[in-house]
Amino acid sequence: MSSKVTAVSARKKTPHLPNHIAIIMDGNGRWAQQRGLPRLEGHGAGAENLRSVIKYFGRLGLKYLTLYGFSTENWKRPQEEIDGLLNLMQEALDKETLKLHKNGIRIRHLGRLGELSPGLQQTINKAVELTKDNTGMTFSLALNYGGRVEILDAVRKIIAEGVPPQKINEQLFDSYLYTAGLPAVDLVIRTAGELRISNFLIWQAAYSEYYFAEVFWPDFDSKEIDKALLAYSRRRRRFGAL
Ligand code: IPE
Ligand code: IPE
Ligand code: MG
Repeated sequence: MSSKVTAVSARKKTPHLPNHIAIIMDGNGRWAQQRGLPRLEGHGAGAENLRSVIKYFGRLGLKYLTLYGFSTENWKRPQEEIDGLLNLMQEALDKETLKLHKNGIRIRHLGRLGELSPGLQQTINKAVELTKDNTGMTFSLALNYGGRVEILDAVRKIIAEGVPPQKINEQLFDSYLYTAGLPAVDLVIRTAGELRISNFLIWQAAYSEYYFAEVFWPDFDSKEIDKALLAYSRRRRRFGAL
């Protein structure tokens, strides 16, 4: 079967596909711990899963996928884990960029880029630049991302540019966030059973639906995605109206 046929049939099965899905990829450490492995092995399995998940959402025809890979609070972890985790992200991005590009995927980065290692910055810049004109799924990777810092960075820029207070509305504010140009998030998924947002897209997810999966991120597969999409299709969104 050609991949085109697969994509069409997959899309038919998901009539209520959200426009923008954002995922908090949590539970790599516990996944490893459960197997008696070092935490970094869990991050390795997590990076592997990231590739399969992007592929699956691409096949489903999703327009916007945003993944939380490293938060501004994750710098509190041991240096060895931070280095290992960010190296894995860099490796995965280096390896996958060309393939993603060939599949028409546009890559974006969300977060404070300047605080990442020069090598990782270069990898991210290359991926973003190469894929910037693609018209398929937009894949945004949040690395060194924090919702509060994002809002502060936007406020600083607005003030530095001397924007008059009466011009500041939601639309303008949106355009100063890292996510400028991305639509509001329809569905936030968090794996590994934790019921919190951990500083992820706190502005953009104001009216999102939430779905929490019990499985750890490395085990979040196509079946789990289908379960989340089914749950979403049964929600009724009201946005404050009746
Ligand atoms: C997700 O897994 C990866 C990041 C948060 C960077 P964790 O490393 O948080 O795994 P747990 O939550 O400790 O199991
Ligand atoms: C959220 O997970 C950050 C990412 C998935 C990148 P954490 O594991 O850091 O969140 P907390 O500390 O449990 O809230
Ligand atoms: Mg965690």
